[in-house]
Amino acid sequence: MASSDKPTSYLPATDALGRDLHDLRVSVTDRCNFRCVYCMPKEVFGRGYKFLQKTELLTFEEIEKIVRVFSRMGVKKIRLTGGEPLVRSELERLIEKISNIDGIADISLTTNAALLSPKRAASLRSAGLDRVNISLDAIDDETFMAVNDVGIPVQKVLDGITAASEAGFKSVKVNMVVKRGLNEHSVLPMARYFHGSGQILRFIEFMDVGNTNRWHDNAVMTGAEIISLINAEMPVETVSPNYRGEVAQRWQYQDGGGEIGVISSVSQPFCGDCSRARLSAVGKIYTCLFASDGFDLLSLLREGISEAELETRVRKLWSRRRDRYSETRTVESVLKPKVEMSYIGG
Ligand code: GTP
Ligand code: 5AD
Ligand code: SF4
Ligand code: SF4
Repeated sequence: MASSDKPTSYLPATDALGRDLHDLRVSVTDRCNFRCVYCMPKEVFGRGYKFLQKTELLTFEEIEKIVRVFSRMGVKKIRLTGGEPLVRSELERLIEKISNIDGIADISLTTNAALLSPKRAASLRSAGLDRVNISLDAIDDETFMAVNDVGIPVQKVLDGITAASEAGFKSVKVNMVVKRGLNEHSVLPMARYFHGSGQILRFIEFMDVGNTNRWHDNAVMTGAEIISLINAEMPVETVSPNYRGEVAQRWQYQDGGGEIGVISSVSQPFCGDCSRARLSAVGKIYTCLFASDGFDLLSLLREGISEAELETRVRKLWSRRRDRYSETRTVESVLKPKVEMSYIGG
């Protein structure tokens, strides 16, 4: 047996900056039924856009193999993303496969919830999905439709949130990306709506992911500004993190109205604790959300690479990792070629 074929079971992988690999975010499709203006603007992702063909995508069996390899390197948490993951058919079959892998303790989904009927939520839960994060960027139709750009009303997403809440997931969180000039006026109405609801609302700073969303730092409302706005009406206090490297800073209402969070990746980057790898729908591994390119696992798999050899390759990749984009962002780096959000799902 070649030395590279030796399985190195259950050994944590550590990168060049001392960060252990804990999470894998898996994009299952580049397609989405929304055209959020900050993610898949219609002028780029319009009728003529060439989405990936089914044969180009990793099969569920291939994803299962990759997750198994990552689980041997310390990954315990899997997040399924897209595009919109619920447009990929039979997602439940993938969830079942992943939930049977030794060492995987948490499977979550990030979705826009438009396809999250009560029936679908129940089947995802029984397939082994633990948690759901749902994107909703405003609580009035006019603003929300200006964001999603496909005429989806707020109620559709609220129904999805209710379906998720009733399906017994371990948590249901709501994500709101805040972009100045687009939906900043929705911060307080969203906070008021979810106050006391049991769902955790997280405000996300608008990020310069990819090259098509016309990001500009003037369009970023910082987490500190958001908290100060909310605190003036509904006082909040900090809560300690659930775990090291949690991306959201946690806060709670002093009147017992529950928890909120801010994800301040632009104004207060958290690269120092970044434990996440990302797998695109075409099987490339990205070691940072802002990477220009990824490491192709699909070709290796289709050439018949063994799991042990795959593990060796990925360990080497992770051991060389020095990514800390958000801590080193400059006017120039914003313009460098970067993978699009819809390819790696955030
Ligand atoms: P939890 O496990 O529930 O804490 O999930 P999460 O917050 O990591 O996942 P989610 O998909 O809900 O992501 C929320 C936001 O955080 C999205 O806008 C992501 O793009 C962003 N985010 C997640 N991980 C990273 C990261 O490593 N770097 C940066 N810059 N942003 C991230
Ligand atoms: N900046 C911040 N968050 C974004 N998302 C998509 N594009 C951006 C961006 N440019 C969010 C989605 C979803 C999560 C996966 O990432 O709304 O909640
Ligand atoms: Fe689709 Fe989510 Fe991107 Fe909106 S943010 S276009 S829902 S993938
Ligand atoms: Fe991790 Fe890159 Fe995000 Fe920093 S910018 S937290 S290294 S994904």
